[in-house]
Amino acid sequence: MTDPAAALLAGLRPAARALPSSGIVRVFNHGRGRPGLIPMWAGEGDMPTPRLIADAAAASLACGETFYTAQLGLPELRAALARYHADIYARPFKADEFFVTGGGMQAIQIALQLILDAGEEVVIPAPAWPNFEGAIRALGGRVRTVPLRLGPAGWTLDLDALFAVCGPGVRAIFVNSPGNPTGWTASRAELRAILDFARQRGLWIVADEIYGRFHYEGGVAPSFQEIREKGDRLLFVQTFSKMWAMTGWRIGWLQAPKALAGAIESLIQYNTSGVAAFMQRAGIVALQEGRAIAGEQIARAATGREIVRQALAPLNSVRFAPPAGAFYQFFHIEGQADSMATALRLVDEANIGLAPGIAFGAEGEGHLRICFLRSATELEEAMRRLTGWLSRNAG
Ligand SMILES: Cc1ncc(COP(=O)(O)O)c(C=O)c1O
Repeated sequence: MTDPAAALLAGLRPAARALPSSGIVRVFNHGRGRPGLIPMWAGEGDMPTPRLIADAAAASLACGETFYTAQLGLPELRAALARYHADIYARPFKADEFFVTGGGMQAIQIALQLILDAGEEVVIPAPAWPNFEGAIRALGGRVRTVPLRLGPAGWTLDLDALFAVCGPGVRAIFVNSPGNPTGWTASRAELRAILDFARQRGLWIVADEIYGRFHYEGGVAPSFQEIREKGDRLLFVQTFSKMWAMTGWRIGWLQAPKALAGAIESLIQYNTSGVAAFMQRAGIVALQEGRAIAGEQIARAATGREIVRQALAPLNSVRFAPPAGAFYQFFHIEGQADSMATALRLVDEANIGLAPGIAFGAEGEGHLRICFLRSATELEEAMRRLTGWLSRNAG
């Protein structure tokens, strides 16, 4: 007799059946609910969304903004996004190049649905946030990775290696800079070389620059925004999640040439039919009045980075480079090749939650990731637990 569950699964699209499960979720499920555990596994801080932003959503609901809304986003929010970008990048932006999505994750989905057919390939520098690959595979696409390398200058990307994997099946290059989990941040010259290559080959670039303002080497990280020209095949992924402590809200945006507006509107229509108006009202307030909140998040991350650096620097068993951007420390531990096993042990034996490097692809194995966007007191305690555990177990 056939097992009914197996029979149901057998009826799925192979691409849906074969989706990988998240390695971070496995550690999270193992540690969830443990008293006193310090969670640093997810890509979010410990600060709840500030009242200023939450109140804007509540006010919108209270005044009855509960109906279907503009698919591409409220015009006021799209205009606010254009002003926000103009402030950061000191060049003009137009409201009609911004499209409001259900978080950065849905901006990634829409970007891929615009350009990728089943069987086509996307190139990704790795280790990388696993959801890029998951979203590509859900569409039946394929991933080709190029390894980022940890050397004396921190994490670097060999551009020749990147270009070498761009064979005829490749449609796009996914550039996440500053990157999760490594903090790798492309220089302006590297971005220019990638853009030139993409132009020559007719490739798309999906530019995930959500951590662009978490940059520790002065100002905003180098960006495709500074070098792009009309007609470039560039799709920017962005989100409210990190800058304004809104991870649970699920609101972000895609920035794309306005010529794509019709196709994007249809994709939004057939995926989610738009983002709730009350969330968009909150987004407007975040952009217009949330400067101090964003500043606080950036300062918190800079302090966290330094706490982690000071804790890890004296240890011979650990190899790491303080990240140029984003808010993660990715580090290698001597003698701990199986990062999933190490992360599970750190839950059980040190009461701290870290993400295993293997969750970011084979290139991440042997590493662990700490999200350091947390209060200094808690992070210091977490580092005491980690270094204590390392002194007993690594080397
Ligand atoms: C590199 C990167 N891109 C996109 C996202 C998605 O962000 P959101 O929470 O808005 O979906 C994340 C979240 O961790 C991320 O790390």
